[in-house]
Amino acid sequence: MAQFVLPKNSRIGKGRHFPAPAGAGKVKTFKVYRWDPETDENPRWDTYDVDVDACGPMVLDVLIHIKSTVDPTLAFRRSCREGVCGSCAMNIGGRNTLACTQGWEEVPGKDCQIGPLPASQVIKDLIPDLTLFYAQYASIKPWLQTETPEPQKEWKQSPEDREKLDGLYECILCACCSTSCPSYWWNQDKYLGPAALLHAYRWIIDSRDEATGDRLDDLEDPFKLYRCHTIMNCAQVCPKGLNPAKAISEVKKMLADRMT
Ligand code: SF4
Ligand code: SF4
Ligand code: FES
Repeated sequence: MAQFVLPKNSRIGKGRHFPAPAGAGKVKTFKVYRWDPETDENPRWDTYDVDVDACGPMVLDVLIHIKSTVDPTLAFRRSCREGVCGSCAMNIGGRNTLACTQGWEEVPGKDCQIGPLPASQVIKDLIPDLTLFYAQYASIKPWLQTETPEPQKEWKQSPEDREKLDGLYECILCACCSTSCPSYWWNQDKYLGPAALLHAYRWIIDSRDEATGDRLDDLEDPFKLYRCHTIMNCAQVCPKGLNPAKAISEVKKMLADRMT
């Protein structure tokens, strides 16, 4: 029989409350998803009343402040702190984005709720397991494929052809788009998702690449590509302002064109 409620062990409970320190200046409340695989406890929302006068302006600054001064057990990923590495992607105030470029003051609502990227297996707290996401990226063969002998110096590309890669090469593989896509939520075992498909298109239209036909053949599949129903969540959340939905529709157009 179909089950319409979460099993008991995955229901999110009310967690611990960490009040602001005495003498705090401006206080803002952050609700943070917590789950520790080393205990058999359910996930929970911990509440931190944070003295934001003691933090920098971004949500990542708050998380680092919590970890270093309030609760060292909190786990999250981060590296560059400037929107380049993609590792701090999470769901903030109901929207997937990068913690290091999202100002806490700009999050709508009184409290700021922070969870891991949705529809992902959680490794711990705010850390999603991106193994499948990276495998999907690898599956589109994100490298130059050529048959002609290698030139002595370099593969040349005209400025006009190079420009065609703008809006594609900037992707930082943060997974904000794929994990906000309803089609990906339901079919991530078969549908490649917006990030991998954006990269597939990036290589398909690279003037130096000589595997265009094979790349298109690989995508001609009812699930890998055609599960995209142009819902556009991907373009709305991309922290780099990219439009995976447009790239996907260009691939569909190329497949349709080569049938005529
Ligand atoms: S446009 Fe396609 S890839 Fe983007 S969110 Fe919608 S279904 Fe997913
Ligand atoms: S397209 Fe945007 S949201 Fe998607 S992985 Fe790349 S940078 Fe992240
Ligand atoms: S820490 Fe690198 S993108 Fe946020």
